[in-house]
Amino acid sequence: METKQKRILTGDRTTGKLHLGHYVGSLKSRVELQHTYETFVLLADVQALTTHFEDPELINSSIYDVAIDNLSVGLDPEKVTLVQQSQITSIAELTVFYSMLVTVNQLRHNPTIKTEAKNYGYADLTYGFLGYPVSQTADITFCNADLVPVGEDQVPHIELARKIVRKFNDMYGTSIVEPQVKLSTVGRLAGLDGNAKMGKSMGNAIYLSDTPEAVWERVRNAVTDPARVTINIPGTPEICNVYKYHCVFNEAEKDNIAELCRTAQIGCVACKKRLNAALNAMLDPIREKRAYYEAHRGEVRDLIIEGTRKANVIGNENIHAIKEKMHVLI
Ligand code: TRP
Ligand code: SF4
Repeated sequence: METKQKRILTGDRTTGKLHLGHYVGSLKSRVELQHTYETFVLLADVQALTTHFEDPELINSSIYDVAIDNLSVGLDPEKVTLVQQSQITSIAELTVFYSMLVTVNQLRHNPTIKTEAKNYGYADLTYGFLGYPVSQTADITFCNADLVPVGEDQVPHIELARKIVRKFNDMYGTSIVEPQVKLSTVGRLAGLDGNAKMGKSMGNAIYLSDTPEAVWERVRNAVTDPARVTINIPGTPEICNVYKYHCVFNEAEKDNIAELCRTAQIGCVACKKRLNAALNAMLDPIREKRAYYEAHRGEVRDLIIEGTRKANVIGNENIHAIKEKMHVLI
């Protein structure tokens, strides 16, 4: 008997280009999972509005940037479905229905909302920003995704989604799939500057689309073990940002590097050059794919439009069945 492939859905806000933090936190696992799961990648332009509503041009151009980032890292356009969030009507409809089952206090206590509000310096929150986890529940459930591959910070949102779905199914007798989180194995990527997080607002991001020169600029300026003022002072790799990156991006050499550092046999500049080489070895094939898609933006547009059309067919069918169960049809 043929078993149906399980479905995953994940997405990125379209607020700019994606960086290495996105790559290790989510993109890399998408590339692996696409062979086992039917994969939907959401270009989250509505969620982008929750923080960037004053910058519609940025959101528009980022739809292409984020799509091209995803394709460049190796998502197969024949396999994955790219979906533009704002064009999926069932997401908007589900968001309204789900919003009845979530209290304001539940949203206010969401730790990710709290952290983000603080980072953005919001004194008061818009209804849209506070409620985006509800809309994200609609993102995940319009197509009944089984699994959501994301980083740690998204876990509260998936937990909320599960709660909403359970409550909704109990209330209306629907059979919306309760999604499960698939946590990335690599934790949050710190900045090479010592900041706990890599991010655009932190000014420390290495973008997937960066040139070799831009990558070296970040690596060259990385903060290392401050005790190593000269090359013959032994270092402590565990406290060094460059070493942390070797562990993530240069596994083959990391043990050797730790040893050389501890015994003062390698200087920080040489060590940074090795990291730089490893990063570029990883980024080169990504750059090559990017060059293709940048030169064929019409193809990218067609992929988004076709993926979105396909997603709407699925979403429309599901929302109709849901409305029947809710007795809103006359
Ligand atoms: N909130 C996610 C982030 O900031 C992006 C996102 C939007 C998402 N919709 C989603 C992730 C649905 C997973 C599933 O990265
Ligand atoms: Fe860090 Fe490498 Fe310098 Fe050691 S040699 S402190 S691991 S940059």
